[in-house]
Amino acid sequence: MNEMSQLQPTLADLVGVSTGPMPASLYTDPNQYELERERIFRRAWLMVGREERIVEPGQFFVKDIAILSASIIITRAKDGQVRAFHNVCSHRGNHVVLEPEGKANRFACRYHGWTYKNTGELIGVPDESGFFDFDKKKCGLTPVACDIWDGWIFINFQPRPEVGLMEFLGSFGTEFADIPYPHADNCLILSGEINANWKCLADNFSEFYHIQSIHPKTLAPVYAGKDNPCSRPLDAGAYGAHRSVAGWLNIGYQPPANWKVVRWLYPANQTVTGTQKEGEVNPLAEHPMVNHPKRKDWSSDVNWIFPNWHIQISASRFWTHEFWPRNRSQSSWEARFYQPKATTVRERLQLEHFTATITDTFLEDLANIESTQKGMESGAKSFVYLHESEILIRHSLEQVDKWTRAKTMAEALD
Ligand code: FES
Ligand SMILES: [Fe+2]
Repeated sequence: MNEMSQLQPTLADLVGVSTGPMPASLYTDPNQYELERERIFRRAWLMVGREERIVEPGQFFVKDIAILSASIIITRAKDGQVRAFHNVCSHRGNHVVLEPEGKANRFACRYHGWTYKNTGELIGVPDESGFFDFDKKKCGLTPVACDIWDGWIFINFQPRPEVGLMEFLGSFGTEFADIPYPHADNCLILSGEINANWKCLADNFSEFYHIQSIHPKTLAPVYAGKDNPCSRPLDAGAYGAHRSVAGWLNIGYQPPANWKVVRWLYPANQTVTGTQKEGEVNPLAEHPMVNHPKRKDWSSDVNWIFPNWHIQISASRFWTHEFWPRNRSQSSWEARFYQPKATTVRERLQLEHFTATITDTFLEDLANIESTQKGMESGAKSFVYLHESEILIRHSLEQVDKWTRAKTMAEALD
């Protein structure tokens, strides 16, 4: 009997989720999408970026959130505080900031020149005396609730959020805090517009079950093997609305000896297995919630924070996926791979090799994501059947269903 088949009880028992088929309508029903807009995206705390993007006073970036037709400016002012505002001019509603990111202490709307401080106050109105009963103090940028957890910036679209960020994060927020994320100030960004419901997109990055089928050359040699051909995960956990799974590693894998160039391209700090060298202390892998089962045959964790983003962690790096709905059957995907800056030609080539490899795997994924959505749109299937390994998907669908039924946040988080 191999190690995987000894996993008892099942992951579903451990996490406390259901085991029956799940309704396919969650991915296709227009009413479901409307409920998700109002009861998930307008109520949940949504992660918009890492703090390292706006380290210096005046730095800002703009996040477009299509499902709420919103454009949000996230900026750090001189007082050090990070604030979020609707990117909407108080004059006649134009978008004030048109650049995706930058550095500015004030924002000027190009239409008629109204100007705002980066703390939101309106400070300049051309020919101000021509306006009637005009109170500039009431015409600042509209603030959006904003808070930070462990370097991750979140916003909330409720004018007065029913629950704070820490309450929303619950036990996930305490147990997964203080992870020493390496190279958090430098990342490679991959993004795309995908013809699939946001959950269908997120599901793909939430299970290892497909590795042997669609990634036979790219990922399967490392993440599947004769002891675990379908990449069953090592462990899983649920933390309120959030969830985590630990992936398996084919620890004995080495690239074939005649792949000399490939061997040379593996970064020194990232062995083929992605784990640290014998005897090396690695603060990232030491964190109690990184490689939670603390097994040698561990590849990476997928931490899925409700509703729409992942933090994935291996022994040498971390990366994120964001899944943003554009409409019922179209989504925006953004992956950020945090990595060291190259200091030698070899390191530069290693990073390029990594980029090329990871891009190949995503191309293998994306084609299947879009055709899955197409298949579900046909209405031929009323249910989807989820394997034990697809535990994150099941927990996600259960939470989506719970939130869309819940009239209050207290009910949703209960
Ligand atoms: S709409 Fe912004 S200044 Fe007129
Ligand atoms: Fe994949």
